[in-house]
Amino acid sequence: MTQAYAEVIGDPIAHSKSPLIHGFWLEKLGIAADYRATRVAPDDLASFFAARADDPAWRGCNVTVPHKVAALDHVPDPGGLRASIGAINTVFRDEGGALVGTNTDAAGFVSPIAGLDLAGRPVAVVGAGGAARAVLFALARLGVGRVTLLNRTPLKGAALLAQFGLKGDALPLTARLPAAALLVNTSALGMAGQPPLDLDLSPLPDDAVVYDIVYAPLETPLLAAAAARGLDTVDGLEMLVGQAALAFELFFGAAPPRDHDEELRERLLA
Ligand code: ATR
Repeated sequence: MTQAYAEVIGDPIAHSKSPLIHGFWLEKLGIAADYRATRVAPDDLASFFAARADDPAWRGCNVTVPHKVAALDHVPDPGGLRASIGAINTVFRDEGGALVGTNTDAAGFVSPIAGLDLAGRPVAVVGAGGAARAVLFALARLGVGRVTLLNRTPLKGAALLAQFGLKGDALPLTARLPAAALLVNTSALGMAGQPPLDLDLSPLPDDAVVYDIVYAPLETPLLAAAAARGLDTVDGLEMLVGQAALAFELFFGAAPPRDHDEELRERLLA
């Protein structure tokens, strides 16, 4: 039989770190399977899924920009993600071989802060795009208290708070931060080529955690400012690896060896 494989699809796709992450775990576990990057143009999405559905060697795929919403039109959505996160990032086969669309971004976001008790505590989130949806979905499930959502377009933030049943305020980026237990940047600010996210962190308590889901660069100006204030930080590679770990298990039926995370991070940064 042809070797089992999974892949990441997007357009463009050359920059994706997913082949390195999944390939690293396949090698560590000695699994004879392949994980590749495949460029799929938007017009080819339907034919892509139709062809892969008939390929018994195909274990599934990760889905990235610009297909995370459109893929919902081509694979079953038993978890009702269209109405919640509004996007999928993983397609896998269930035990009967049927395709299932799912989203590991929300759980991947939570995994690095799983030890943090956020129930009823105030949080601040920057951004109201696709990544914010997965983060707000996860925060609602954690039962956080008031959410201060800062966005260039505050109206988009207000709509997301309402959609996820979160109490709080949607404000412009210039607003003062609350005394939040967690601050998360989900926006593009701080990414290479984008302006930095310039916030006054002084309202945050000393035990606050600052989490930036941007991973290029790894140390964003926001995380540098948080570290300078002595706050705990979580960088974007942690979420990236967290969402990949959940997808890996769905594709290959084995938990990835997370005791090698340090080596994996070194390779991702090389
Ligand atoms: P993603 O899927 O990565 O979340 P997105 O859906 O395009 O990408 O969302 C990008 C987020 O970054 C949005 O919150 C966007 O603000 P708007 O909702 O006002 O568009 C924010 N963003 C991107 N570039 C920005 C910039 N130069 N200044 C301020 N905010 C920016």
